[in-house]
Amino acid sequence: MSKSVWIVDFGSQYTQLITRRSREVGFSSEIITFETLKKRFDRNERPKALVLSGGPQSIFKDPRDYGFIFEGSTPILGICYGMQIIGQVLGGKVEKGTTGEYGLSEIQFEKSANSYGLKNIFTSWMSHFDHLSEVPENFKVMLKSENGFIAGISHDSKPIWGLQFHPEVEHTEQGREILKTFFSKVAKLETDWGSDQMLDEALSVIQKENAGQILCAFSGGVDSLVAASLCEKINQENLHCFFVDHGLLRPQDIHHIHVLQENTKLNIQIVDAKEQFFSKLKGVDEPEAKRKIIGHEFISVFEQKVHEYENNHGIKFTHLLQGTLYPDVIESVSPHGEEGISSTIKSHHNVGGLPERMKLKLLEPLRYLFKDEVRNLGEKLGLEKPWVHRHPFPGPGIGVRVLGELTPKRVLQVGQSDQILFEELHKNNLYQETWQALTVLIPVKTVGVKGDERAYEEVICLRMVNSSDGMTATFSPMPHKFLSTVSRRITNEVEGITRVVYDVTDKPPGTIEWE
Ligand code: XMP
Repeated sequence: MSKSVWIVDFGSQYTQLITRRSREVGFSSEIITFETLKKRFDRNERPKALVLSGGPQSIFKDPRDYGFIFEGSTPILGICYGMQIIGQVLGGKVEKGTTGEYGLSEIQFEKSANSYGLKNIFTSWMSHFDHLSEVPENFKVMLKSENGFIAGISHDSKPIWGLQFHPEVEHTEQGREILKTFFSKVAKLETDWGSDQMLDEALSVIQKENAGQILCAFSGGVDSLVAASLCEKINQENLHCFFVDHGLLRPQDIHHIHVLQENTKLNIQIVDAKEQFFSKLKGVDEPEAKRKIIGHEFISVFEQKVHEYENNHGIKFTHLLQGTLYPDVIESVSPHGEEGISSTIKSHHNVGGLPERMKLKLLEPLRYLFKDEVRNLGEKLGLEKPWVHRHPFPGPGIGVRVLGELTPKRVLQVGQSDQILFEELHKNNLYQETWQALTVLIPVKTVGVKGDERAYEEVICLRMVNSSDGMTATFSPMPHKFLSTVSRRITNEVEGITRVVYDVTDKPPGTIEWE
């Protein structure tokens, strides 16, 4: 489905945020590269509004010809680098920065430039080196920053705005209102994005495929649950959800699957593959090797199921349903300016090898949606709130939370610690205060005292982080009393643990998982 707003990515770290915010305020939007923009313009395709994103490069070193963008009457919003493109191409003056401007800056509307009901003076997030020093002909300065930089410009008669700051970033006051004002009052667009449109779009992906028998690698996480629930609306009879128990699950995951089996119409089968996984993982302690084996065994389990269904039930699968999200498929540029598929693609697609090997077609109804949108959609589909607001949990599960070799005993220690952590998170109403919470077994023996005796046992690390997409994260500032309760319970209740530590590392440099 074509989107009203095209956001041209020039490599800003905030491009996805522009898209999310545009959708949040009601306008359908997609991210494209400059190359795609050129191709579409050549084919005479136009958006209802165009956003030129920020980017790390300098306009003085950019050899591209942007003139064609301004030939028609398409409304244009240039953000940061995007504003410098407007300035440079239309005859203003951009100056090389000497110090740049980074962080919060107070900015102010020029006299009579604010007829939109926005607040006149507000805080904005700046991140730029070069800056616009003279506006092009027929433009006026709309906003200025406290140190005199031009912070925003507007065309006298055309729907074109340039903003030097980032309205898409949370730190910018009234950022959403500014974007909304541009789309609705300057570009004069009607809103066209909300939960109804998301549902239509996701359902239409499934309808178009006209799938036969569908195999769903079902983890019970938000994405696979919402994808399966959508699919079930159309292909209930032919949807087969397989949940692989690889023996590396937390008690809460098994419990959750039973809840879903009882409370949804989904056909969910638990495949007990514990022995298969453990036999292959015996003696392996290197993280990448563990991940590879786990990924490989996932595929092998599904292959077995495909054969079993074909031979024993006469069911031949044609499609693989996956909860792939928009950030996994976005066409964007890396900060180094190379075009291509987003650098955010994770190497974490646990069943990524399935379609090639089994000639299954992919069914990805969520591929145009962000995580927050998937959660909304889940609620719209009538799924219970706690199911669609679950923390993420990695496919290799506890496998990457027991450092070193995996043994049933060590997996149990992490499972029990995790259970305690989550009981306390729920009891203290802290579950939604953190984005992801986990426990890790650190295979280091330390000295302690248990009862009256000296103990020489291992360490559990608690990790809780705040994040919006897992790409960056900060450790969650959890209350000391809560941490102390969890620590006391783990050292008392989990055999072999004398010490509990809290990981206060942000990402970067530390990843969320320890392996
Ligand atoms: P890291 O550890 O890379 O994790 O900071 C970022 C997010 O991704 C999750 N993660 C995985 N998810 N399979 C998954 O499905 C994996 O192999 C995997 N490894 C990490 C991690 O839990 C966090 O939410």
